[in-house]
Formats: sequence, structure tokens, C-alpha cells
Amino acid sequence: MTGLETRNLTRRFGGLTAVDSVDFSLRPGEIVGIIGPNGAGKTTLINLLAGIYLPTEGEIIFNDEDISTVPAYRRAALGIGRTFQLIHPLEDLTLLENVMTGFLFARKHTLRRAREEARTLCRSLGLTGLDRSTGQLNILETKKMEIAKSLAGGPSVVFLDEVMAGLNSDETLDIIGTVREIAREQNLGIGVVEHVMGVIKELTERVVVLDAGAVIAAGPYSEVSRDERVISAYLGGGA
Ligand SMILES: Nc1ncnc2c1ncn2[C@@H]1O[C@H](COP(=O)(O)OP(=O)(O)O)[C@@H](O)[C@H]1O
Ligand SMILES: [Mg+2]
Repeated sequence: MTGLETRNLTRRFGGLTAVDSVDFSLRPGEIVGIIGPNGAGKTTLINLLAGIYLPTEGEIIFNDEDISTVPAYRRAALGIGRTFQLIHPLEDLTLLENVMTGFLFARKHTLRRAREEARTLCRSLGLTGLDRSTGQLNILETKKMEIAKSLAGGPSVVFLDEVMAGLNSDETLDIIGTVREIAREQNLGIGVVEHVMGVIKELTERVVVLDAGAVIAAGPYSEVSRDERVISAYLGGGA
């Protein structure tokens, strides 16, 4: 299958099972929500897919290749992109230079080519004033820069880990429109981790609900949001 697929994916930290026998898939062009209360294992799942952590059990298949033990830098080059939940822009660099780093490291472009491609990508995300330092960016611009960095490696699937956190509703709508456009134009598979359920409802075709590391429900948001187990996981989980 084209895209990303996991089978029985499990990661333990000591006695804690952070990701528990998860079967997940993401195909090019689709937007899938990954939801669940705090500590459910969403970020750990992304870290496993990106190769930051290796699985304790199970497999990760990407475009029919078993990549379970492939290191993170190679997965980025293969086409798996992600943002980080805690944003850490390179503060001595400008907006443009931050985005260029993606093209330089993941794609080994020349400086000149990286600069051109980074400019084009920023423009497509509606980013201007590219020579500003990152400290001068507002929150929406900072989030878009993080998305741009995740796209700079030329991924076919990308994971956005709570990129909308801290945005007001207009800014959130702006990002939703941007993400949807990117998915369509580049036939990109996008995994969205998000706490604001309105965003999940608006943006995703289907969702996977995690609780204590395990998938407790999956399907369109409209169905999953009525599921008893999902409702009680949220009420009990303090999310
Ligand atoms: N490196 C780690 N070492 C030990 N425990 C971890 C580590 N990373 C995550 N965890 C634990 O795994 C569980 C899932 O965390 P996480 O994936 O960050 O959840 P979420 O993103 O859904 O809020 C939590 O209990 C967290 O404390
Ligand atoms: Mg998280």
C-alpha cells in the first residue's frame, strides 16, 4: 500500500505502555485526526513513526517497506515529516533561513536552490517578510514556519502535533484552510493531533482515538464523538 501503516505497534517505557498494539494507517491525500486525552500516547505514536523512538513490538510499513528500525534522518528523507509539539525555532536565523534548513538537511540542496525552494514554499503558505528574525513573528507566522519546516523535506505524509494550540479562531481557520490546500495540491497524507474538537471535525475525514496508548475507537468524527468509550475517556482523562 502507498502511505504509512503500523501493525501491533507498541512502545513501553519501563512499566508504562505509552503506545499499545496500535494499527494505524495514513494514505496520500487524506487527513486523519489522532485524538485522545493528555498522556494517551499521541506524541509517542508520532515519535515512533518519525523514528525518534524505536518500537518495543510491532511494525511500521512505509510504501510497502518495513522501516521499523530505520533511523529518523532516513525516514525524513524517505518522506515522513512532522512538526514538534514544543516549538524550537533556530532563533539566530531568519524565517527564510529556518525553512531553508529543511531543504539543506533533508534534501541536500545547494544553498541557492534551498533559498529558492524555501521562498516558494513560504509564499504558498502566505508567509511574507522572510528576512525577519523569528523573534519578530506573530504566533500564526511561527506556526506556519513550523509547518513549512515539516514540508521542506518533501514528505508524502506529515504529522502536525498540536500546531493550532494558542491560536484564536480566525488564525485557526487560516491554518485549517492552509493545511487542506496543501493536502490537496501535494497529495499529502496529514496526521493531525489536536485538542480543539471543532478543528478535528472540520479538517479530518476520519479519526483514531487513543486512550492509555490503545486505539479505543476509529471512524468519522461524527460517529466516534458519540461513542461511549470515547466520551468516558475524555471525561475521565481530564483533557
Ligand atoms: N521518553 C519517555 N519516557 C518515559 N515516559 C514517556 C516518554 N515519552 C512519553 N512518555 C509517557 O508516555 C505516555 C504518553 O505520552 P504522550 O505520547 O506524550 O501523550 P500525548 O501526546 O497523547 O499527551 C505518558 O504517560 C508519558 O508520560
Ligand atoms: Mg502530545
